[in-house]
Amino acid sequence: LTFHLSCDSAARALGTDQTARALAEAAARRGLEVEIRRNSSRGLYWLEPLLEMDTPQGRFGFGPLPAAQADSVLGAVLEADGQHPLALGPLERLPYLAGQQRLLFARAGLTRPLSLDDYLAHGGYRGLTHALELGGQGTLDCVLESGLRGRGGAAFPAGVKWRTVRETVADGKYVVCNADEGDSGSFADRMLMEGDPFLLIEGMSIAALAVGANRGYLYVRSEYAAAAETLRRALEIARQRGYLGPNLQGSGLELELELRLGAGAYICGEETSMLESLEGRRGEVRAKPPLPAISGLFGRPTLVHNVLTLASVPTILARGAPYYRDFGVGRSRGTMAFQLAGNVRRGGLVERGFGLSLRELIEDYGGGCASGRPVKAAQVGGPLGAWLTPEQFDTALDYEAFAAVGAMLGHGGVVVCDDSTDMARMARFAMQFCAAESCGKCTPCRIGSTRGVEVIDRLLAAGDAAERRRHWTLLRDLCETMRHGSLCALGGLTPSPVLSAARGFPADFGLDPAIVE
Ligand code: NAI
Ligand code: SF4
Repeated sequence: LTFHLSCDSAARALGTDQTARALAEAAARRGLEVEIRRNSSRGLYWLEPLLEMDTPQGRFGFGPLPAAQADSVLGAVLEADGQHPLALGPLERLPYLAGQQRLLFARAGLTRPLSLDDYLAHGGYRGLTHALELGGQGTLDCVLESGLRGRGGAAFPAGVKWRTVRETVADGKYVVCNADEGDSGSFADRMLMEGDPFLLIEGMSIAALAVGANRGYLYVRSEYAAAAETLRRALEIARQRGYLGPNLQGSGLELELELRLGAGAYICGEETSMLESLEGRRGEVRAKPPLPAISGLFGRPTLVHNVLTLASVPTILARGAPYYRDFGVGRSRGTMAFQLAGNVRRGGLVERGFGLSLRELIEDYGGGCASGRPVKAAQVGGPLGAWLTPEQFDTALDYEAFAAVGAMLGHGGVVVCDDSTDMARMARFAMQFCAAESCGKCTPCRIGSTRGVEVIDRLLAAGDAAERRRHWTLLRDLCETMRHGSLCALGGLTPSPVLSAARGFPADFGLDPAIVE
């Protein structure tokens, strides 16, 4: 009998190690030989610990399966044809999974993260093989044609960035993976690095070859200890098997990738701060221009991308740009890994082509609030993303549609709140977060965020409507100054959650709806 349980750190936090142990003990008591494989996670966190079993019809699931029930599930498998209150049936038919379009997470739950053979058996390295056939310019053209845009949040066309790096003449170039995933509610980068590290390594390799870099860095936040360890070992394996090193797969090309750990600063997710940190300095934002694509790490042209951007590349090369472009809508092509978190019944990863609505994501996939209360608001795109009201939930999840309602998709994290949430406190938190994480380089952000917390406090303590109105006017002006005067997105975007919370929920601020527009 072969069973599967995830080794992903979120799944482990929910008890998969204990369930695995209990299952092994239950099998030993019955004198049974069972194999328990520890795979990547499906991203169905609401069902963890999720036990899967191989059957002729595919994987059959049980979950959430606490250790205490492992014995009874094993009994049901042996004696009752799998009939059990925790039985989920064939996993691929679960609506949550069946409705997804998994390209980035095609192997999620199926392979063991550190088995290069599993990776190869599931289509791994076909993209690199094709890229080596196409050569640098052909690979770049393929990425341009795919319509891929940066998945870190800014959605800049990836191929245009590649072209800038490729065309800049220099005596050395770098590729850097930004794995400093710091947004609240985000976990897709972590899941991918822990679950499918060779996909990221393959994506970085293709990118490096296309832009002419022979050295690269993976900048992983130190809080992601399991991801960092998985990547460290995966890099070693890739090197041993000739997928990195002086003569990559016999191509004569050289590529070295190294792992670097961040030290817990949100701002190191901003690309120029990250480059400072990689160079051994304090993570502080550099003014742009020059763009990193022209003068980045150690002053050389540097291709900086988020984990998911780089991890999208192997599929594009393996299956072709038209295949990838077919997913999504408008100028948002391909798939996006949405991450459902906060007060939501079915939290987890939903990968779909752009264009589904936020309502589908929160209600159909998420099942509404975990508390059973009505959904009050959702924040999309991390702590600097706008709060959306349920009236806005029909907005399509694509970059342009979100920008049109004054919001952003960012990195695809979605945090759901129920009707007991005080949105004024959430607005205050955004300012406080900015004050704590500001790198201090520019005044609107460094000083403005601290003053912002104070103004919100005064607004909430104000005794009458006229006083509240005065503080609101000041808060709005301060937000305008931060938006237009900040050097980077941290200060520039903080007004977004603050103003959207006030405009969507003026009553929580004691404000008259007529004055918040
Ligand atoms: P940006 O718009 O300045 O740049 C986007 C990317 O395109 C950068 O890599 C930039 O160097 C590059 N670029 C711009 N023009 C170019 C050109 N002409 N040629 C070549 N490359 C060019 O945005 P920024 O400040 O890098 O990112 C802001 C975004 O980061 C926000 O929208 C937010 O969603 C996101 N964010 C993500 C977080 C996460 O945890 N993933 C955390 C915080 C913010
Ligand atoms: Fe630093 Fe904030 Fe200015 Fe960005 S906006 S450069 S984080 S002080």
